Amino acid sequence: MRRKVTVVGGGFVGSTTAQRIHDADLADVVLTDILEGVPVGKALDMAESAPILGANALAVGISTVAGDYQETADSDIVVVTAGFPRKPGMSRDDLLKANYDVIKAVVGAIVKLSPEAILIIVTNPLDAMAQAAFRASGFPKQRVIGMAGILDSARMSTFVARELGVSVENIHSFVLGGHGDDMVPLPRYSTVAGIPITELIPKEKLEAIIKRTRQGGAEIVNLLKTGSAYYAPSAAVVEMVEAILKDKKKILPCAVYLEGEYGINGLFVGVPVKLGAKGVERIIEIQLTPDEKTALDKSAASVRELVKVIGV
Ligand code: 2OP
Repeated sequence: MRRKVTVVGGGFVGSTTAQRIHDADLADVVLTDILEGVPVGKALDMAESAPILGANALAVGISTVAGDYQETADSDIVVVTAGFPRKPGMSRDDLLKANYDVIKAVVGAIVKLSPEAILIIVTNPLDAMAQAAFRASGFPKQRVIGMAGILDSARMSTFVARELGVSVENIHSFVLGGHGDDMVPLPRYSTVAGIPITELIPKEKLEAIIKRTRQGGAEIVNLLKTGSAYYAPSAAVVEMVEAILKDKKKILPCAVYLEGEYGINGLFVGVPVKLGAKGVERIIEIQLTPDEKTALDKSAASVRELVKVIGV
């Protein structure tokens, strides 16, 4: 059976995500954008790479400027990357409200045509937008998931690998919390070939890695000047897509709706979950030290502030 993934938003994150899914032959891809020619052109370009790559996945692009999402019907997964980037003079709340409007409109249209889909939300501010999508969709919490923990952990792993001069494949980093400045990298649970990094990296170096991880998104924005990261974010989305489509039951850090886990109630926050064909199949709760719990509560409080502004 052919699988279908819709990617909403044809910017760098959306188109790179669509490309990775298409090129890996994971599923047919529908790329949508409110621009007229761009999603159509990008998908056609992708499709024309298929004979060279030997990919059998179909790539279709549509403009949703007229509100027509018909081509997305019966998607197995819908990845939402659409939204405004922060522009000069725009407050965090301005961005929040503008992107909330985008999420409401997109999710409202999408879920009518793909009522069984799993939603992966990428639009920032991530955790609040995942919560907005959860409310707007009316989907069970297992089928609305925010992408961020994989990206944040990957950034930490990159810095750890560089510090130690070892393969990134040996590193397993663990980052909890919201996708913001208060995210909670957990060195105690981060390992190199099973060895906690606290035994291999001196404290000051570890603190620098944690700081850089927290500011990982901003570091790229400051370098690119005109946009934010997309290679690592799209790779993170594709890991989630693959875990779901292949029913891998993979444990991955994702933003999910908590109802009492970690002492947090009624809020999307990043925690380790089991991802499989049904979406979030289990939320994994680990023991935190009092300091770690305080840090997680602070991160959750930042998310709750945003959620309150938009009332979701
Ligand atoms: C990032 O962390 C902007 O959330 C995006 O790169």
